[in-house]
Amino acid sequence: MSEIRNPDAPQCSGGIRMTRERVCADNKRIILNSRTVDVNQLVPIKYKWAWHYYLDACANHWMPTEVSMQRDIEQWKNPNAFTPDERHVIKRNLGFFSTAETLVGNNIVLSIYKLVDNPECRQYLLRQAFEEAIHVHTFQYIVESLSLDETEIFNMYRENQAIYEKDEFSMSCTDGILDEQVDLTTSKGLQKFVDNLAAFYVVTEGIFFYSGFVTLLSFGRQNRLPGTCEQIQYILRDESIHMNFGIQLINAIIEENPHCWTPEFAAYLVGRIKRAVELEVNYAQECLPRGVLGLNVQLLREYVQYIADRRLEKLRLPRQYNSGNPFPWMSEVIDLKKEKNFFETRVTEYQTGGALEW
Ligand SMILES: [Fe+2]
Ligand SMILES: [Fe+2]
Repeated sequence: MSEIRNPDAPQCSGGIRMTRERVCADNKRIILNSRTVDVNQLVPIKYKWAWHYYLDACANHWMPTEVSMQRDIEQWKNPNAFTPDERHVIKRNLGFFSTAETLVGNNIVLSIYKLVDNPECRQYLLRQAFEEAIHVHTFQYIVESLSLDETEIFNMYRENQAIYEKDEFSMSCTDGILDEQVDLTTSKGLQKFVDNLAAFYVVTEGIFFYSGFVTLLSFGRQNRLPGTCEQIQYILRDESIHMNFGIQLINAIIEENPHCWTPEFAAYLVGRIKRAVELEVNYAQECLPRGVLGLNVQLLREYVQYIADRRLEKLRLPRQYNSGNPFPWMSEVIDLKKEKNFFETRVTEYQTGGALEW
């Protein structure tokens, strides 16, 4: 077979050529591998962290239909089981998640997978894309089980201002990658890609999901909507791995391409995360205009600021808020190694505790 592609040309699908040169792990890079090594060989593995995230994710496999919704259905049908404000906040969060999970899956497939061409990272991305499909399935299953108005829930991201603004923040970054030929050999192109990764892994999955997690899990703590909350617990567990993988990916790209990490770009990312916190507080205001279950906008603001600082620190950026954590119980939900089964409905646990940092 003759050489079918110029080995120096950027390529994400991995054109091959006959050769006796074997892949050396040291030559692998997160992006632009086509310039140095074959992109189709998982082994030898260089980025062991990516492979271990993949193994952790597989060890956590679950499906929404394994979880009984019987008690949720009985409670939801009972006109006295929830106040109008409680029904409002539950539906708002289901509305947000039902489409946000799709946006995350689309961004993996349409932008990240094309640009990250390291095989061990791609192995994790394939697993994550499947998990996002499971999460989309979860919200379809909950909406169908509770006989909610599916058009109301699934259209909410275009009809509700606070949800629209969060989704617009994320989607504009997917569009930015799709619209242009991003040249990852330039600092500008790399910054555009890191902005996309931060918008999804740090903001969407690491900040925008968290008011919803706190609110829905607060019902679970009172044994209300136990099936829904069990599924949210599994999604939270998955999402904490997604976010940790994404932050490690960003940091690895920056280490390999330090010229893109300028003071201006670092300040830009801090500004983006601060804007995301504002959008999340607006969303909390929309969901909880009067507060429910002891939750209110002020507590959610503190919590969102607290987790934003944690994300900033992991990106080696300065903390902005120094807020305390008003919901320490959330750490216990995430740390399933310590608290195997938060709602005592099913025994599952991580097999690798090292992945549990969040
Ligand atoms: Fe997800
Ligand atoms: Fe995710």
